[in-house]
Amino acid sequence: MSNIPWWKTSVIYQIYPRSFQDTNGDGIGDLRGIIDRIDYLQWLGIGAIWISPIYPSPMVDFGYDVADYTDINTIFGSMADFDELLLQAHQRNIKVIMDFVPNHTSDCHPWFVESRRATSSPKRDWYIWKDAKPDGSPPNNWRSVFGGSGWEWDAPTRQFYFHAFHKAQPDLNWRNNDVQEAMFNVMRFWLDRGVDGFRVDVMWHIIKDELFRDNPPNPEYKESQPPYDQLLPVYSTDQPEVHDIVAQMRQIADGYGDRVIIGEVYLPIQKLMEYYGPNNEGAHMPFNFLMLRLPWHAPEIAAAIDQYEGALPTEGWPNWVLSNHDNPRIASRVGEAQARIAAMLLLTLRGTPTIYYGDEIGMRDVAIPLEEQQDPQGLNMPEKNLSRDPCRTPMQWSADEYAGFSKVQPWLRVDKKYPRINVQQQQNDAYSMLTLYRKLVQLRNDEPALNHGTYTPVYSNDQFIAYRRDAPGADSFFIMLNLTSRPCRYSQPPSDTLKGQVIIATAPEAEGMDIEKDIYLNGDEGIVIRLTAP
Ligand code: NOJ
Repeated sequence: MSNIPWWKTSVIYQIYPRSFQDTNGDGIGDLRGIIDRIDYLQWLGIGAIWISPIYPSPMVDFGYDVADYTDINTIFGSMADFDELLLQAHQRNIKVIMDFVPNHTSDCHPWFVESRRATSSPKRDWYIWKDAKPDGSPPNNWRSVFGGSGWEWDAPTRQFYFHAFHKAQPDLNWRNNDVQEAMFNVMRFWLDRGVDGFRVDVMWHIIKDELFRDNPPNPEYKESQPPYDQLLPVYSTDQPEVHDIVAQMRQIADGYGDRVIIGEVYLPIQKLMEYYGPNNEGAHMPFNFLMLRLPWHAPEIAAAIDQYEGALPTEGWPNWVLSNHDNPRIASRVGEAQARIAAMLLLTLRGTPTIYYGDEIGMRDVAIPLEEQQDPQGLNMPEKNLSRDPCRTPMQWSADEYAGFSKVQPWLRVDKKYPRINVQQQQNDAYSMLTLYRKLVQLRNDEPALNHGTYTPVYSNDQFIAYRRDAPGADSFFIMLNLTSRPCRYSQPPSDTLKGQVIIATAPEAEGMDIEKDIYLNGDEGIVIRLTAP
């Protein structure tokens, strides 16, 4: 598999650094903690880690408000720790992907401090400043994702600035060439240091409509949705000019060879595909978030996989995500039993899988009492249940106090189930979620058909989906997943009966079983069959 780029063949693991492993006893995870756990990731078979932001930051949005793009936050450690992490990861053949946040900075970033100083500041145009309307109201109706207007009045200089997220996260003006160059230099800084690529934060937000036109009302808005969804952000996001910026990012990465650009893009499939760029000169992989949103229902999942596969541009490489730090965890969305099916799906579909830390042991969202909540998205809209704290709780390593994450009270509470649900316990349990994940990751790493072979849907109905993976000259695999809790049966067509042996099953008792004709699955059961025929 050596001539295939690593980002196609590797399993990516997302680390939310505040919650992974604390080593300096402040209740917050750090880089030393990641170094200490790197052997675990290697044991799991991980090929790349993506680390959520570790830059100096006032932490209003937990690191997505960057105050200095080319340094390390002392909460997490030092640049020497970072270099050590890079070295240790590379020695184990694990790539390191940084989180790059180009759309906005912190309001404490020296660029913004300077920009805010006076309308005549040489950096005024680095951000999006506008006069009020004659009646004193904001320049247009654009909203902030975190609730309320996207415009913040700056009394001393008598203008509004735009912030797509928190008011402490002013948006940069990417129509300004100096901004572009400064941000491209940030990329070069980390690439020179040896990082293997970037996950680019809110890629589809980077450029805004030049005329700043009002966004139209969303005719499908429902009261239960976040207020941001009241408007369709057709002028504030996903502008045609963004693709040129993405192509430039790609060129910079490609200039270093063997690096990756992954874009965070929440858009419908057809729009998402545009982020691969014409002739595949855009992002290597715009994140595919379909599974974060779809109802857990076999016909919808089957259709979505095919819609995605069908829409991919030639040479466009697929990828799959089940959870991340902005969304409910998979185990909380589909339940513990179906989370095992989801793992099998994630790791046997065609395309690069991203595992969110803790999903491999079945971590679930944890209820965080209002007085302990920290996420600004949740705090700004308390009645909407939008806090992302529940999916960001400390990693459960062992049954020790605070789950082995820290020696002191962590920044967010640990799931009370940690004495039962933790890495140490699951490493020694043949039936655990972790054992299942590890077997799936290893098989995917070893088998060309699973790693980079073709995907062919075979059959799906109201209960299950079945597909196969093939690669020339290598074993083929047939995967059948029951997405319900009731038994199901696949009657194989007599003319075209597959034969083989179950090699991984969500219920390991099924492993080793020969398959010759009809396939029966219990509820919540999934199997991977190594085919012997045809
Ligand atoms: C997307 C990040 O994933 C999220 O955590 C953050 O709040 C916003 N971008 C703003 O940077």
